[in-house]
Amino acid sequence: MISMKKLSILPQLAVTAALVFAGSVAQADEVKGNAAAGNGKVWLCIGCHSIPDYRADYPLVYKVPMIGGQNAAYIASALAAYKKGERKHPTMRSIAASLSDQDMADIGEYYAAQTASSPNNPLK
Ligand code: HEC
Repeated sequence: MISMKKLSILPQLAVTAALVFAGSVAQADEVKGNAAAGNGKVWLCIGCHSIPDYRADYPLVYKVPMIGGQNAAYIASALAAYKKGERKHPTMRSIAASLSDQDMADIGEYYAAQTASSPNNPLK
């Protein structure tokens, strides 16, 4: 008798799980990065992260990882990991804390568009 009662809630759980999953997929699709929008959001990053134009002026910044040319999704997920605390670097954590998912996606696209072989990239 008891086991019949337990079984009867299983289909409901399955439906709930399916809805939650569908919701998270839909949300992930909504955040599309835009490199031009990212251009206005990286003023804070430039002092530390080298981008092609800054290399000559700041030869000492190389302890900071170079993110220009890095994959956009990687950059966005690294920033999300700092925000969540999964990555521990204190400065990056406080910087990422102020960024929205949209900011992270835009910044990811912006840096992905920076490569050493595109010195005249109009998005810089
Ligand atoms: C005060 C200097 C500083 C500033 C400002 C700064 N960063 Fe960083 N960033 C670092 C350092 C140092 C690391 C390496 C931290 C670590 O080891 O986890 C890092 C790591 C990262 C990483 C991970 C790179 C990788 O290869 O895993 C990303 C992405 C990143 N920063 C993006 C940004 C963005 C975007 C901004 C501006 C919104 C920014 N940072 C501002 C110093 C800075």
